[in-house]
Amino acid sequence: MNFPENFLWGTATASYQIEGAVDEDGRGASIWDTFSHAPGNVYRGDTGDVACDHYHRLEEDLDLMAELGLQAYRFSVAWPRVQPDGSGPANQKGLDFYRRLVDGLRERSIEPMLTLYHWDLPQALEDRGGWTSRETSERFAEYAGLVYGALSGTVSYWITLNEPWVAAWLGHGYGVHAPGKQDAGAALSASHHLLLGHGLAMERMRSVGDDNRLGVTLNLHPAVPGRDRDADREAARRVDGQANRLYLDPLFRGAYPEDVLSHYRGLGADLSVVRDGDLRKISAPLDFLGVNYYFRHTVRDAPEEDAPDAPFADLDARPIVPHAAEKTAMGWPVDPEGLTEILVRIKEEYADLPLYVTENGRAVHDYADPNGEVKDDERVSYLDAHFRAAREAMDRGADLRGYMVWSFLDNFEWAEGYSKRFGLVFVDYATQKRTPKTSARWYSEVIRRNGLGEPAR
Ligand code: FCB
Repeated sequence: MNFPENFLWGTATASYQIEGAVDEDGRGASIWDTFSHAPGNVYRGDTGDVACDHYHRLEEDLDLMAELGLQAYRFSVAWPRVQPDGSGPANQKGLDFYRRLVDGLRERSIEPMLTLYHWDLPQALEDRGGWTSRETSERFAEYAGLVYGALSGTVSYWITLNEPWVAAWLGHGYGVHAPGKQDAGAALSASHHLLLGHGLAMERMRSVGDDNRLGVTLNLHPAVPGRDRDADREAARRVDGQANRLYLDPLFRGAYPEDVLSHYRGLGADLSVVRDGDLRKISAPLDFLGVNYYFRHTVRDAPEEDAPDAPFADLDARPIVPHAAEKTAMGWPVDPEGLTEILVRIKEEYADLPLYVTENGRAVHDYADPNGEVKDDERVSYLDAHFRAAREAMDRGADLRGYMVWSFLDNFEWAEGYSKRFGLVFVDYATQKRTPKTSARWYSEVIRRNGLGEPAR
């Protein structure tokens, strides 16, 4: 099974999850420093203080990427390295680190794909309201302009935001992520200001005139009823509205979905922060859409929810994991067909534009055996099935141009700390030794052949 010539195979990471060096070279604090250091927020009290120590091991990690034959590398820039308190002139040392990274990638013929915001908001901006304040959207565009000015000559792929749904809802609605708020109104307002920040940053970068490709990354999930009941079908529609359409509609249609707004109006939460002209900026044309895919939401109607702050409880819906599904170490169902559905849906319902899978992968309870080998066959079959599902979407017309596996390295998995391993490369956190897993070697072969052999078991 082959992929088109020029199909881009790579891996993805994010700054706070791998860099460490949180106090170095002028970096300011981010909301994830604050959140992870507050007791009770992250499993075992883990923080990103050291993480994979990538900041100090840059050359070694670049060499490993080259050894694996990666063609692309998606990474994110830590805003508080560039603007320690979220405004004003750039901290040159912060920019220098990313300059070394992109130059190192180019020297090794690896295409850089840069994400401007993967959740590490400067704490100083949070103190002034964070994403619930319109000022943060404006600051974000200013920050985007600084990074673009420094790196637009060497980086061709620019992603404004990673997963605005997660930043808005896990961060402000359900309190699972930084800044840890539990308020639907704050989540809606954050959602709009994230999208507005995207629109303003796009405008800023476009005005420079360089011929780069600019896009945004969404996490998308098909949403389906758990049981054959109208009430569950309605619950699935509500979840689809909040998780998918609340982002796809403003980006591609310049309008928010009315059913979602009216549901939240019923709860006393609204989108009154939207001003004239915002949606025009948010819906300005994209060069590509990044899609992060992990699983499908299977949901049941749950009007009597007894955990009022659980994800989707405010939608009177409860996620369930089908009995028959294979589950990853995150407890997430393995569902490659969902990837095909999502990619085809974008083309059929929204826009026929270039797509990249900017994240997909699974957590495994990995360990190094007595010979030091990490035999993650489950990850190999997972990736094999998802690559085939992506190919199927392409056969059905989706214009998919590349695939970034999450993740290059095991890393700080947000509220799960270091307990969940997603890497193609195993990290022994005590020694920082990197060991490519079976999946890394297998992926190198996929890239080399630009395709797949016989289906994995
Ligand atoms: C996504 C995040 C990424 C990683 C994966 C497992 O939601 O973008 O940073 O944590 O999930």
